[in-house]
Amino acid sequence: RDQLVVLGIETSCDETAAAVVVGGRRVLSSVVSSQVDLHARFGGVVPEIASRAHVELLTPVVAEAMLSAGVEPHDLDAVACTVGPGLVGALLVGVSTAKALSLVWDVPFVAVNHLEAHLHAAFLEEPDLQLPAVVLLVSGGHTMLVHWEEMGRYRLLGQTVDDAAGEAFDKVARFLGLGYPGGPAIDALAMDGDPTAIAFPRPMLDNGYDFSFSGLKTAVVNHVRKNPDVATADVAASFQEAVVDVLVAKARRAAAEIGAKALCIGGGVAANSQLRERMLGVCVDDGLQAFLPSRAMCTDNAAMVAAAGWHRFLADGASPLDLGAEPNLRL
Ligand code: KG4
Ligand code: ZN
Repeated sequence: RDQLVVLGIETSCDETAAAVVVGGRRVLSSVVSSQVDLHARFGGVVPEIASRAHVELLTPVVAEAMLSAGVEPHDLDAVACTVGPGLVGALLVGVSTAKALSLVWDVPFVAVNHLEAHLHAAFLEEPDLQLPAVVLLVSGGHTMLVHWEEMGRYRLLGQTVDDAAGEAFDKVARFLGLGYPGGPAIDALAMDGDPTAIAFPRPMLDNGYDFSFSGLKTAVVNHVRKNPDVATADVAASFQEAVVDVLVAKARRAAAEIGAKALCIGGGVAANSQLRERMLGVCVDDGLQAFLPSRAMCTDNAAMVAAAGWHRFLADGASPLDLGAEPNLRL
């Protein structure tokens, strides 16, 4: 099982990615072609543009992943692909391609849940990750707190009731004229600002494990409209502080409640420097193993899909070829 070679394919949003991973751990290649430039002028991902770009990019991306891994089709033990959740047209490109390759190469097809793949990103970089763990998954599309009980067993503790954390970063950045994607722009600008300058609300701070960010975004808009001369860096820093306060407090409380041994973060927002620093601090204070994946492993990639596919293949075997894309798939 440690020698199984899996090709992973990821097309659920605006990243076209392919990777070859051995034994669910050893990454031979990981190719990610981001479409971020194609979507930037629209201030967000345009589904139709994403699907078309996947069609153009996926074959060369798969070829490059195979070539740079030094792997031939007959070396593969499975082709794993994200089947959901995500944009249906974007998912279909990956799923159709993975199934076609599976048929032509006579290699089993394995359906992968994108959220499960994000969780597995942790194990790719930290093989000694201890379970049970609490995972905070924060990206442009999702914000969830997960209790990872044991390999293959996850329990959703809470999630956003409106905007995802990354979406809040993107919307606030857009309002402040900082461009797209907004997370990295706010992160950078916040370094020059005072996080205590403006007391933005901390939505649902002490209230369960669900999140809400749309009211916070409105609070930012209202504050800037009322105070047109406010320093943008202070707004960015104070907004970021409010988001991070909520994320960190809930993750910490969840870890204490379930008796977690480790705290992990994942998803694009896990690249946020303030969130990383604060999570690390909590882990040191509470005696938890911290797992903060590298930036490349936080954002969408196919190595995590191949790793999750390896586990799925060993647990459940191949997936049927009549399986379609599942845009609303849950963890
Ligand atoms: O996981 P991801 O690449 O794509 C999905 O949404 O699935 O996450 C992208 C999101 C965007 O909303 C982006 O603004 C946010 O992650 N992001 C950040 C940072 N880098 C990326 N948010 C806050 N701080 C960052 N440094
Ligand atoms: Zn993702």
